[in-house]
Amino acid sequence: MTPKTPQTPQTPQTTTTTPKRTQSDGTPRTGGTATPTTLADLARRATEDRARPAYGHDALITCDRLVRIFSTDGVEVQALQGLDLLVREGELMALVGASGSGKSTLMNILAGLDTPTAGAARVAQYDLLAMTAKDRLRYRREVVGFVWQQTSRNLLPYLTAAQNVALPMQLSGDRGRRGRRAKAERVRELLEMLQVGDCRDRRPHQMSGGQQQRVAIAVALANDPAVLLADEPTGELDSHTGEQIFAAFRTANERLGTTIVIVTHDQTVADEVRRTVAIRDGRTSTEVLRRSEVDAATGDERVVSREYAMLDRAGRLQLPAEYTQALGMRDRVALELEPDHIAVWPDDSERD
Ligand SMILES: Nc1ncnc2c1ncn2[C@@H]1O[C@H](COP(=O)(O)OP(=O)(O)OP(=O)(O)O)[C@@H](O)[C@H]1O
Ligand SMILES: [Mg+2]
Repeated sequence: MTPKTPQTPQTPQTTTTTPKRTQSDGTPRTGGTATPTTLADLARRATEDRARPAYGHDALITCDRLVRIFSTDGVEVQALQGLDLLVREGELMALVGASGSGKSTLMNILAGLDTPTAGAARVAQYDLLAMTAKDRLRYRREVVGFVWQQTSRNLLPYLTAAQNVALPMQLSGDRGRRGRRAKAERVRELLEMLQVGDCRDRRPHQMSGGQQQRVAIAVALANDPAVLLADEPTGELDSHTGEQIFAAFRTANERLGTTIVIVTHDQTVADEVRRTVAIRDGRTSTEVLRRSEVDAATGDERVVSREYAMLDRAGRLQLPAEYTQALGMRDRVALELEPDHIAVWPDDSERD
């Protein structure tokens, strides 16, 4: 994704200092006009740091410096290169990124189908790097549901829509918990909620692609998972049908409270969610947040979106290429700490 200029303009900051941007040894000068740090300040900050909750403590999905390296025929591909991502319970969010950026690799890990090489990944109380085979099976059956791009991969061809939705319930360990009649009722409710109630007795080949994907969402929701993952679920559909499928995800999110992560190339889907995270070269790079705002003068509601750069726990951030190119920034930059922002300057050490 090409990073854009934030749509909410920032008030220009004014500063009265004459910036001397690098020290004599060429290292960035930090400190600027900020209040000088005293020992007491440092001690207070250290105490605050210790008291601060752990990374991702309130998230349903936590990926912390996630790495996945594939080795085939002696060639190593680093599909995920220290990816950080937090998703809160009840979120409906989109993941975007160029082909090969690592989206499906991440989804396969979150789905419990693949194991990361290093880092940490946690969904609900499940540690995805340290699950036993039994935990993994339970995780895949009861904690996550997934919808794939290929409609044919989501449904068993010789079962009807209703039988496809009932199957995960029969396979899950709670056979005794939900009676036959309750299961049949849930199948009916899910198919109706997703507006494919009339397809209940049809096999996949008797349904359109869009209907198959809606049944697939019902299958994924059958065991009431905490998380629903979808990898390009609208990729094989025309844009109108794609919108209907997205509406089905929204319904599931709103009515059942399911946390949903959708990988998409479809800009209209990405524009419809509150949060879109972009992956670049195996790392989360930027994030767009959207919120509705009511215009005080006209009373009209409009969506305001703003793009943010991701800051990892080591303090690394990726500057958009068009920003760095516009100012000829390469190799190193000078930083200056101001009271309410950090200034980034082109390297001028050669000129000093
Ligand atoms: N099983 C595998 N073995 C070897 N390399 C793999 C494997 N799976 C993925 N990769 C490589 O990892 C990188 C990330 O692939 P991934 O499928 O996650 O990308 P993606 O973002 O989903 O792309 P697309 O948008 O095309 O689906 C690619 O370079 C890919 O070739
Ligand atoms: Mg993919």
